[in-house]
Order: sequence, then structure tokens, then C-alpha cells
Amino acid sequence: MFNDVGGAMLEGLEKVRDEALETLKGVRDEAALETWRTRFLGRSSALMQSLKQLSSLGAEDRPKVGQTANEVKRALETALEERKIALNEQKVQRSLGEDSLDVTLPGRAVPWGRLHPITQTLRRIYAIFAEMGFQVYRSRDVETDEYNFQLLNIPRHHPARDMQDTFYIDDGTEESSVLLRTQTSPGQIHAMRESSVRDPKNPPPVRIILPGMCYRYEQVTARSEIQFTQVEGLAVGEHITFGDLKGTLSEFAKRFFNSEVRTRFRASHFPFTEPSAEMDIECFVCHGAGCPVCKQTGWLEILGSGMVHPTVLTNGGYDPERYSGFAFGMGPERLTMLRYRIEDIRYFWRNDLRFLEQFS
Ligand code: DAH
Repeated sequence: MFNDVGGAMLEGLEKVRDEALETLKGVRDEAALETWRTRFLGRSSALMQSLKQLSSLGAEDRPKVGQTANEVKRALETALEERKIALNEQKVQRSLGEDSLDVTLPGRAVPWGRLHPITQTLRRIYAIFAEMGFQVYRSRDVETDEYNFQLLNIPRHHPARDMQDTFYIDDGTEESSVLLRTQTSPGQIHAMRESSVRDPKNPPPVRIILPGMCYRYEQVTARSEIQFTQVEGLAVGEHITFGDLKGTLSEFAKRFFNSEVRTRFRASHFPFTEPSAEMDIECFVCHGAGCPVCKQTGWLEILGSGMVHPTVLTNGGYDPERYSGFAFGMGPERLTMLRYRIEDIRYFWRNDLRFLEQFS
């Protein structure tokens, strides 16, 4: 049985709890919540005061009153926490409704970039020739008439010039006339001179590929652009033969297209090589039977090549009596078009993402 004091305190605690919970329902913001906390759970609140007075109670009342006081305290603390969370949630909901920034929207996806199809082709070419011991040698896009033509055995008025008209910055009549290169072949002269000048008596062997942009003043069509890339190749040393040329380029075709691909070499003419040959691969669409891709011939032309002309070797500082070499030139656009059956070379420069995104 409780004596009066104990019974009064129990009643008082229940009243405090009911009042506190009732008042809490009306709390609408953080400030009001803090006022509520001070009033019902603060040091001078009725609840805290009764906890303090426990010691003055008789032994028979103390456990029950103490237990109830602690229960009320826990109940109020729990209610306080829940109210705090609810108020916070209301605040977020309100700001979502009122503010223009919707923090729940997913962020905008950052589009993944990718390499241009020609860059991808160039890198495959570099990798294949790197495995065969060729280094990449970069040379300039802006050349003189001398390097682009004359040192490559293409004198003025040579008919080969008709096929490679270009952009001049003057009237194009001097040896020193500056122009945009029509081919990567002038890089051959730069590379040979650079290494022969270091040791003119015993110039070291050369194994390089020369990639880069070339320019021609011609009509833009589905098959030709005024700017395009080329990859030139040059191997110079002692005892280099036409067999080395065939072996290297057939191996390249196998690694670039597929290991089964057949190649053939057709006699051709380039002023800077003698003899010259064009390399074809067996059409990988019809396997030689004839189809629209190979124009019913069964073969696809891939590159030009030949043994470096003695005059070109001499111009590079290599004695043709002692040294020989082979060279080749290919068009990455053409290789890419064949590989992916792209019909129009102009796609490469249109910057149309619908086209570019297809090459991942
Ligand atoms: N320069 C030639 C062109 O643009 C391509 C070429 C053919 C390069 C044969 C070579 C070569 O090095 O040996 O048409």
C-alpha cells in the first residue's frame, strides 16, 4: 500500500506524462520542441524533481515510484526523438514542395567519351608494328615543295604531281614553297637525315612508321576528303629485300584483319620506290568469290609499297650501294571503312555522335 506521499507522486507522474504527450502533439517546429524538452525533461521539470525526491520516500514506496518515474522519463524521451524525426521529415517534404531543386532527382549521367574510330585504327596499327620492332616517328604537316616532292624523286612537272594537288601558302613555284603535305612520305627523308647526320659513315638502321594527317586539294566525295590520315612505313638497313617487305606487310594484314587472310602483290608505280607494288587482301566479305564490296574482283586494295628508290636513299644520307630498304603507305580511313563497311568517308569529319558512338 502506498502512503499519501507515494500515491500522490504516482498520480502526479501519470499526469505529467499525459500532459507532456498531449502538449507534444501541438509542437510544430524545433524551437517549440526545445521549449517542450526544457519544460518536461529539463532539470527543474516536475519529473526530474520527483526523481530527486525519491530518497525522501519511505522504503515501501520508493521502488514503485522510482520505476514509474523512470518509465515516464523513457516514454517522454522516446516521444521527443520520434517528434524530432517527424519534424525533420516534414521540413524536407516542405522544401521539396516549395523549392525548385529536387534533391531526390538522380544526377545527370556524365556521358562516357570514346576514341574516334580513326584513332582506334591508328592505335591498332601502332601496336602491330611495335610488335615487329617499328617505332612511331612524327613529322610535320607543313612541308616544303622540296621535301614533299623533289627529294622523293618527284621533280616539277612530273605527272605524279597531278594526283596530289595541295594547299600552298604562296604560288607554289619555288623549291622552298610551303604547302600542306599530300602524303606522309616526306617524313622518310626527315627520319633518314636525322639518323644519318649523327653517323654519316655508318648510319644506323631505320624501322619506323610515320602516322599523320595529309591534305589534298580535291573534290570531296564519298571516297575522298581534303584531309585524311596516312601511316607510312620505312625500313632501311643492310640486306633488306623485297621478301622482307612481303613478309612484314602480309603479317600486318593477318594481324589487322584475321590470321587467315590471303594477300597478293601487284606491280605498281611510285616515284620513290623501285620496284613498287600494291598489296591487296582477299575480300573478307565474299572470300574471293566476288561481291559489291570488292567490286566483283575478290580482292581489296590495302596499301602501296616498294623498295626505297636509290635516289631517295641518297637524299636521306644512305649509300644505296650498301643500304636498301622498303617503304609503304596506307590509309587508316580506308582500312576502317573496309573493316566496319562504312560507305562514306565524310562521316569521319561530321562530328555526328550517332556515327561516332558506334565505335566503342
Ligand atoms: N605516298 C603514297 C601516296 O600517298 C603512298 C605510298 C606508296 C607510300 C608507296 C610509300 C610507298 O611509302 O612505298 O599515295
